Amino acid sequence: MAVSDEFLQELRARINIESVVSPYVNLKKHGSVLTGLCPFHNEKTPSFTVYPESSSFYCFGCGVGGDVITFVRRIENLDYVEALKSLAQRIGMQMPEDGYDDTLMKRRLRILSANRAAAKFFHEALFAAESKPALDYLLNRGLTIATIKHFGLGFAPDSWSKLCSKLREDGFSFQELVEANLVSRSKKNNNESYYDRFRKRIMVPIIDLRGNVVAFGGRVLDDSKPKYINTSDTLVYKKGRDIFALNFAKNGNEGSLILTEGYMDTIALHQAGFKNAVAGLGTALTREQAQLLSRYAKEVIICYDNDEAGREATAKALNVLGQTDLKLRVLQLRGGKDPDDIIKKHGRERFKNLLDGAANDIEFKILEERQKHDLNTPNGKLDFLKAAANILAELDGAIERDIYASKLSEELSVGKDSIMQQVMENRKKLLNYKRKSRLKGLERKSLGISDKLNPEFGRNVRAVKAEETLISSLMNNPDFYGKICDKISADDFITETNRHIFKVITFRLAENKDIDTNLLSSELNNDEMSKVIRFRLRSNELINTLRECEDCIKVIIEEKNKQKDLNPASLSDEEFLDLFKQKNT
Ligand code: CTP
Ligand code: MN
Repeated sequence: MAVSDEFLQELRARINIESVVSPYVNLKKHGSVLTGLCPFHNEKTPSFTVYPESSSFYCFGCGVGGDVITFVRRIENLDYVEALKSLAQRIGMQMPEDGYDDTLMKRRLRILSANRAAAKFFHEALFAAESKPALDYLLNRGLTIATIKHFGLGFAPDSWSKLCSKLREDGFSFQELVEANLVSRSKKNNNESYYDRFRKRIMVPIIDLRGNVVAFGGRVLDDSKPKYINTSDTLVYKKGRDIFALNFAKNGNEGSLILTEGYMDTIALHQAGFKNAVAGLGTALTREQAQLLSRYAKEVIICYDNDEAGREATAKALNVLGQTDLKLRVLQLRGGKDPDDIIKKHGRERFKNLLDGAANDIEFKILEERQKHDLNTPNGKLDFLKAAANILAELDGAIERDIYASKLSEELSVGKDSIMQQVMENRKKLLNYKRKSRLKGLERKSLGISDKLNPEFGRNVRAVKAEETLISSLMNNPDFYGKICDKISADDFITETNRHIFKVITFRLAENKDIDTNLLSSELNNDEMSKVIRFRLRSNELINTLRECEDCIKVIIEEKNKQKDLNPASLSDEEFLDLFKQKNT
């Protein structure tokens, strides 16, 4: 990637990292830095830090960091050039004409326009005379033409080639259509042929927050299987990342979103006036989706199907969403199997009532427990109380614990004090357990065993410490390079990640170039950038002497030689056995 340093320096000077980050993170000023809740992991207290001065960011919770380009790369899931372009565009800087590779972005754009053309084709096909059964199906399900248009619903005709031929006419290549997952390739007797992937299905376009058609869900018209065929992962779509209808629901939702299981439920809710309904896309709710929701609302009301699978999915979703700072409620669909069904059978008012009465997550968990026990027997009552006390023990607020304990006490005619006693006992155990596992986590962290950014850390603690101290020192004192360059090279490094970072840095230093963070991001991946920021932060704590660097070099070389010795291939059988003995005694 050959964008000049001058271009990158100018970009950095002109772009304000705070304005790039703030649409995603609510930032508060703390002296010369800004902090907020990390958009890359779930947390309740802010450890995400933005450094306007160096135009970089770092999260002390998950260790993710980098320059402003890395931020855009991560948050928008773009590659380096795309992120660079989008930033350059923001401030009206002209990208240099050549010298960078934007094939990936071009391919993405082609997929998006193929998807858009396909959506138009499906939508028009729905209103063709021969598609009457499909249109009737939707109308019979109570959808209006206005709703069908609003969601851009369509129909994939009962044909192996109609879509493909149309899009070929529009100038898309087979390759592009296969990449978009609209067309499949088959190879029989060395004959390649292509056929439409979606046939005789109602087509639901999935639209991202920028209005791009990123994928489709295709539903059968009857009870045949599979009920849905969905777009698989492509360059523009990843399952578990997007939320259906969030493009509509993100605006004017008054801080609250209704999360349903299916496309059809969400569409029915919108038609009934609940414009804040969204749906996960067939998978169990992911952390990424939870985070996405938390960016657009303060509260999520889970409204999954009224069956065993729905209840299980609800428990899981509560878990994932519970790691964000979203307020949670659970709507129980009494009198119907899913939201679509309730509205059809009982009307929108009924759904509104259910919505207003939706239990919060604690109430929901207690309700679930209540159903498991026979409260008419002493044993059943006792078991239920124990389980309920366990649930209340998780509540951090004393008043909340008190309120629920009072309710239980009334309902079961059991003294409130004895319930509270049980709750507090459980709470003590729970806090103890949490403290212990936190300590364990810290221990592991300080040993580097769980260093996600450098998987080799655990095995090479001594070497890694030396490698990282050396890199940190060098970053802070680039002029050391001339004094150490003949004593060590990247090849001496033991761990892959550090070796690569060292290589990139020393390569630049050898050419007398700057090693500012924002000049490194074109050659380092996101995880490596996180490390770079960590090294920079650390360099303030180092003594930063040449002597220290030389010590590190000594350790690295020593460890390197040790590893050579440990390599069984370089040992005689006897030596090998010897070594083995030593280890076991
Ligand atoms: N789903 C899927 N593949 C299937 C079945 C379901 O991807 N074979 C996903 C779809 O996203 C679907 C959601 O799971 O919207 C919920 O499934 P279901 O309740 O069966 O579908 P609905 O969309 O609610 O359709 P309907 O109301 O017609 O049952
Ligand atoms: Mn459903």
